[in-house]
Amino acid sequence: MNAQPLIRCINHHEKTKPFWMFRQAGRYLPEYRDLRKKEPNFLQFCYTPEYCVKAVIQPVERFDLDIAIVFSDILVIPDALGQNVWFEGGIGPKLSPLNCGDLIGNLRKNQLYDRLKPIYEGISGMVEALGQRELIGFSGSPWTLACYMIEGQGSRDYFSARRAALDDPTFVDLMKLLEDTIISHLSYQIDSGVKVIQLFDSWSGILSPDLFEQCVVKPTKRIVSALKKQYPQVPIMGFARGCGDKMTYYAENTGIDVLTIDETIQRCTFQQKTKYIVQGNLDPVYLLGSKEVLFYEVQKWKAETKDQAWIYNLGHGVHKDTKPEMVQYLVDCLRER
Ligand code: CP3
Repeated sequence: MNAQPLIRCINHHEKTKPFWMFRQAGRYLPEYRDLRKKEPNFLQFCYTPEYCVKAVIQPVERFDLDIAIVFSDILVIPDALGQNVWFEGGIGPKLSPLNCGDLIGNLRKNQLYDRLKPIYEGISGMVEALGQRELIGFSGSPWTLACYMIEGQGSRDYFSARRAALDDPTFVDLMKLLEDTIISHLSYQIDSGVKVIQLFDSWSGILSPDLFEQCVVKPTKRIVSALKKQYPQVPIMGFARGCGDKMTYYAENTGIDVLTIDETIQRCTFQQKTKYIVQGNLDPVYLLGSKEVLFYEVQKWKAETKDQAWIYNLGHGVHKDTKPEMVQYLVDCLRER
């Protein structure tokens, strides 16, 4: 097995493309569903190192992947800060109401390490179990976390969060608290053994250009420069999902090393721009169609990225209804690369 293919691709712009998938550990795998039965409370599951190590290893072993992402969730941060977070089957995440006004005083900002210690312990176990394989650490970005924290659940347009960004003076304090917390959370992950960082800004695509600058670009830039100061050797991958034509601006103004793109972005946008390493962007829906269509799509993907340093990944997470055999087929198609 090649040592450190992800780091080599990022640092040396190698054209051999490593492959992994968002949500490669998760409900589409029967062995994950069995493991989850042991702990019905999803956050408790995330705080049980033994289960997280097992969940990380499952797709790696089944498909012989050489990269894994920490098994955890972006919403452990609001939980660690003292907001109640729970997951309702069929609905998704729920968070107790947050009054921006008395937010800062109520949040238990000094308990991050104590509360999330099981995650950092789990990371050490994951690194050991993965051997030569690389482990990616991650966090939600301030804007996406603020979306869930203010709205209290998933939403189509996160209108309350956008309104708070516009004229709630305490929103600035919330974002600052999140930036500091994310920097600490990622530093602890690096200290525990992750080699690369992924920032998820899943809801960056609903913002106008000015709010995108304020809520996505500036906070990301601060997080990236703080981490780069402390850990210059750790590459940072940024995923401003859905931000369309603001993608290049995001890459150029945040200091990230890898630009993750969703399935809506045309790959030809990057053909002349070898200065970025690009990650993505196979539409996860192809894993739910026929093998013939997936085969055709993968050939197109390979041809379009032939001369680029590209990290093969999906444009978003593996859908829970995906058949594992389709993922195996994708892996087989890519192995011919
Ligand atoms: O291999 C992996 O990627 C697993 C680690 C991981 C999870 N969540 C596990 C998880 C990662 C990297 C995440 C990131 C995450 N979580 C994001 C950013 C990426 C994105 O999807 O945009 C977001 C927005 C969340 C918040 C979240 N967590 C939601 C919206 C949900 C519900 C999803 C659903 O389909 O029900 C979760 C739950 C969650 N996180 C599951 C897993 C495996 C499913 C929970 C279960 O096992 O019952």
